[in-house]
Amino acid sequence: MVLNKLTFTKALLFLFLCISGNYSAQNALYIPPALTGTSFNLTIQSGNTQLYPGNPTPTYGINGSFLSPTIIVNKNDVVTLNVINNLNVATTMHWHGLHVAPENDGGPHQSIPAGTTWSPSFEILNNAGTFWYHPHGEGKTELHVGKGLAGLFIIHDPAELALALPQAYGVDDIPLIVQTKAFDVLNQIAIADHMDTAVFVNGTLHAAADLPAQVVRLRLLNGSSMRSFYFGFSNNMTFYQIATDGGLTATPNALTRLLLAPGERSEILVDLSGMNGQTLNLMSYGSEMPNGIFGSPSVGSGADTMDMYMENFLNGADFNLAEFTVVPQTANPVTTIPTSLVPYLPFSEMDVTINRTLVFDTITLLPGDIPNRAEGPFGINNTTFHMDSVNIMVPLNSTELWTLKNNTLIAHPFHIHDIQFNIIEKNGTTPPVSEQGWKDVVLVMPEDSVKFITRFTTFSDEMVPYMYHCHLLHHEDDGMMGSFLVFDPFAAINEHETFAFAAYPNPSSAEWNISGKWDKKEFSITLNDLQGKEILMRSFSGISSGESITVPASELDSGIYFLTITNGKETRKLMLTKN
Ligand code: C2O
Ligand code: CU
Ligand code: CU
Repeated sequence: MVLNKLTFTKALLFLFLCISGNYSAQNALYIPPALTGTSFNLTIQSGNTQLYPGNPTPTYGINGSFLSPTIIVNKNDVVTLNVINNLNVATTMHWHGLHVAPENDGGPHQSIPAGTTWSPSFEILNNAGTFWYHPHGEGKTELHVGKGLAGLFIIHDPAELALALPQAYGVDDIPLIVQTKAFDVLNQIAIADHMDTAVFVNGTLHAAADLPAQVVRLRLLNGSSMRSFYFGFSNNMTFYQIATDGGLTATPNALTRLLLAPGERSEILVDLSGMNGQTLNLMSYGSEMPNGIFGSPSVGSGADTMDMYMENFLNGADFNLAEFTVVPQTANPVTTIPTSLVPYLPFSEMDVTINRTLVFDTITLLPGDIPNRAEGPFGINNTTFHMDSVNIMVPLNSTELWTLKNNTLIAHPFHIHDIQFNIIEKNGTTPPVSEQGWKDVVLVMPEDSVKFITRFTTFSDEMVPYMYHCHLLHHEDDGMMGSFLVFDPFAAINEHETFAFAAYPNPSSAEWNISGKWDKKEFSITLNDLQGKEILMRSFSGISSGESITVPASELDSGIYFLTITNGKETRKLMLTKN
């Protein structure tokens, strides 16, 4: 093998990590401080953290130099989050999994310039569950998350608090943010690198903690950039999954293994009763993980494989995440696993009004490039993310069935903002029990597909979109992301609006007449299909209010279309149906 400079640096790094990997003294598991109340100050800062002997590592943190506190709130609280950006670069802060208006969502469109504060305020509408928050700046997510900006966002609600579940944060209700990171020879956190050999739990290397000899709740977050974890315990004990991404499941689900891809969360109960004095490890069983997932024994085949994949000793390996020592019970221990949790009422296929298909594929940046189906770059529906375009138009309150088709050779965890969905089909059959519950991330296996149903409620906005993307942060940053606008198709009919329009007949087979308050101004109309493709665009001026213009429909396929009417200042959207 010829060592080019890059490979040589990586070989050095590999050697370095093998050495530091032997530096395996246990460190007490850090429990991020809990912030409670309804007003939160989150100061984003840079600092240095001594992660290894030698050079300290430049890191980012919130209210500290590394990692982020845990925000704990109650459903229906109205919260204000003051995000103070003391970095010398712009960033954003996204509330992953929360149902909030697009301008509060913290996607790439809510950039927080260096030295400024962003203060979204909103009501907590989600049910009890384990969510998280992290930056989402255009092309910068992996760097900012990797440097330490990731925290849990825990929601409680009355139904959950009424259950006999462990609730004492840091005592029997334990946050576990699991992440791997890659480092360069100067101990700097490296990105777009497949040598993520350092395993952190809550920012702690070689983490160890004492857990009481009773039922303990572990809130698991995979906060890694690329790596999936196949969770299990070294004594192979059964544990009970009680929550998926979006909150509690109907009943506890007994498991010995649980797969979580980047972005996914789960809550599990472990019964440590009678185990006082014993030690057990929380592990990832990479050797048992299905091929095609980053972290499994292999990804891709032939020429379509990942750079350095086999050199990373965590790939395909079983390794420790944290060591737990069982200590005496607390004063009021939970000692039984509940038999039922909360009702789960998924959306039904019968309510679906709109179907969409999203295809994951490699994209070619330069003519003549030979795409690598494991390495990428990847796009969705043949395009990559652009700040100023909207890929999908979603009518408010529509129930939609999305089919995700993965034409590549690596598994992609697909995430969508704003809503929770229920998976109805995975690998051609019903999803595993561990994914029967509210989800906002789903891992789509290579050359496979997933179908889910969701409903877009509460928030619409004519201008600010939400995101959907692959939660492998390197893929997201490279553009495996799109945007969707939720708009209210009935908003334009409001007579008190000064910029109001209506379409008739609707549905139509030949044409739509659009009447409205044109007011002789200049305006333009754009007709798009469901996938955001532009079909027609015209400009007008001098039309009086009350007159109508005609949009031809006879040549169009039957289905749903969107008409955007704008005068440059105001915008309205109409949903048109072609019969
Ligand atoms: Cu966890 Cu769009 O992100
Ligand atoms: Cu999100
Ligand atoms: Cu991906």
